[in-house]
Amino acid sequence: MTQRKQIIAGNWKMNGTLSETANLINGLKQKIKSDTLRRNVILCPPFTSLILARELTKGTPFKLGAQNVHFEGKGAFTGEVSAEMLKETGCEYVIIGHSERRAYFHEDDALINKKVKKALGTELQVIMCVGETLEQREKGITNDVVRTQTDGSLHNVSEKELEKIIIAYEPVWAIGTGKTATPDQANEVHEYIRSLISDSYSPAAAERLIIQYGGSVKADNAGELLSMSHIDGALVGGSSLKADDFAGIVLA
Ligand code: 13P
Repeated sequence: MTQRKQIIAGNWKMNGTLSETANLINGLKQKIKSDTLRRNVILCPPFTSLILARELTKGTPFKLGAQNVHFEGKGAFTGEVSAEMLKETGCEYVIIGHSERRAYFHEDDALINKKVKKALGTELQVIMCVGETLEQREKGITNDVVRTQTDGSLHNVSEKELEKIIIAYEPVWAIGTGKTATPDQANEVHEYIRSLISDSYSPAAAERLIIQYGGSVKADNAGELLSMSHIDGALVGGSSLKADDFAGIVLA
């Protein structure tokens, strides 16, 4: 049996004014108590809410993550935020390579790899996202897509550095659509990702790796997904925006 402690992360995406941030975190504090918590919990609000979130999560089990980072430390990159800045706001994690960044902001594996290296060099842990579109799944190339994304994004990442990486498998067709991958479908891809890591690093590295599932995770399907042998947590979008829903997943 594995010793991996499951991690549930809430990706708020572009949601959460300061008052919404305060309401949500205060609600979560009421519902999720550290003494009974079996899973780790990460909240990823927008940049503008990070400092408030840091204040509100003091003394709670909740860790903080950001949703994006630039690969340079500073300079003339209008609109971007550096890993150093994120560290200062109390972030311990950053989501990199989300399919929305890949699709709407044209991020490719080479760029994602630069961001991953920068985050690791700044002692941020990374939630690195991979996943196929519906068209790719229907063509039967899910594994090829996931392999290309994983290899490209982890280029020149050492086995030691890999300990600071979580991989989130998020099939694009399941994001925000209400269509969840079945537990078996998800587990199969997770097992494949673990085999890739075993081949390119070591069986021990693969055994340690946390692989989250993301895509329409809800309180009523989380239990089944999280009971699968290769699913070590969830990256939650829509259902992370209501305290009841997110607590239901964390405690599922
Ligand atoms: P939903 O949970 O809204 O499908 O979003 C998943 C996701 O993209 C998390 O990063």
